[in-house]
Amino acid sequence: MKKRGKNTLLSLLLAGLLLGGCSSQPGLPAEEDNADLVVVGFSQVGAESDWRNANTQSMLDALSAENGYRLILDDAQQKQEKQITAIRNFINQGVDYIVLAPTRETGWDTVLTEARKAGIPVIIVDRMIETGDPDLFTCWVGSDFRSEGDKAVQWLEDHQEGKELRIAHLQGSIGSSAQIGRTSGLDAGIGAHDNWKLVFRESGDFTQAKGQEMTEKLLSQEPSFNVLYSENDNMTYGAIEALESAGIEPGKDVTILSFDASSKALRLILDGKINYDVECNPLHGPRVRKIIEQLEKGETPLKYTYVEEVSFDSSNLLESVIEGRGY
Ligand code: AHR
Repeated sequence: MKKRGKNTLLSLLLAGLLLGGCSSQPGLPAEEDNADLVVVGFSQVGAESDWRNANTQSMLDALSAENGYRLILDDAQQKQEKQITAIRNFINQGVDYIVLAPTRETGWDTVLTEARKAGIPVIIVDRMIETGDPDLFTCWVGSDFRSEGDKAVQWLEDHQEGKELRIAHLQGSIGSSAQIGRTSGLDAGIGAHDNWKLVFRESGDFTQAKGQEMTEKLLSQEPSFNVLYSENDNMTYGAIEALESAGIEPGKDVTILSFDASSKALRLILDGKINYDVECNPLHGPRVRKIIEQLEKGETPLKYTYVEEVSFDSSNLLESVIEGRGY
């Protein structure tokens, strides 16, 4: 029988104790049957959005016991310190692979050096990290967030026909690649258009509650604005609540651009409340599984894999797209 992991059963039992907030997938075989499973420690950002929940589910489905994996999931509640602690716990447990969905880009070198010293491959998913030593991780798979921002800017340019734009901006979690890329796309657009003005900018931390709170703050300041650029769908849902409560029609009085393109948001495009939504694909589970399979066979996966993504407005959105979405 092939032995998995460096510290075997004892460490797996310790895993449950050390990572009080962690869960492994339901329906796991008894511990003694787990020796053949590939053990993966997954440090997840949190549960801040529908996108994130779909991403977690995709990982649980792909790295299931039936597929030959034991996934140890740690929810960092959007805190980098919690992710660093989780990674250290994974190292102590001697997992076979570490998968990291980073909260922010900077601050990973020390803990990833520890993982490298322990000989554990690290796969980064979704957002990117900033490091002077790319050998600290084995490979990355995720989205091109700057290109997502550029798509939104291009759509505005194509659909607002030289109109003066007064833009309110809800940012995601500051320092995350998703925020950095989408914000830099908007900033480039504003810099390139004399008649585009930024009138409000706050972070809603990618959550619906904060998206609503920040839009209420925007409304209380009474600036005139005709565009809302919201860096994810959940903040957009909160913003729509706030706008409607104030008697403002989203999608008509204010042009709304959003990111993720989850099925609920796509329905809001059909309802005319969101004007344009740039897809960010959360279904990374099978991609990570494929990478691990390659590594298990001694192959070298691509260092960087950008996921192909599309975008939607009322001109290209069909009911069938929403039905087949899966998130
Ligand atoms: O990193 C991906 C972003 O994080 C998604 O746009 C957002 O919804 C999530 O929380």
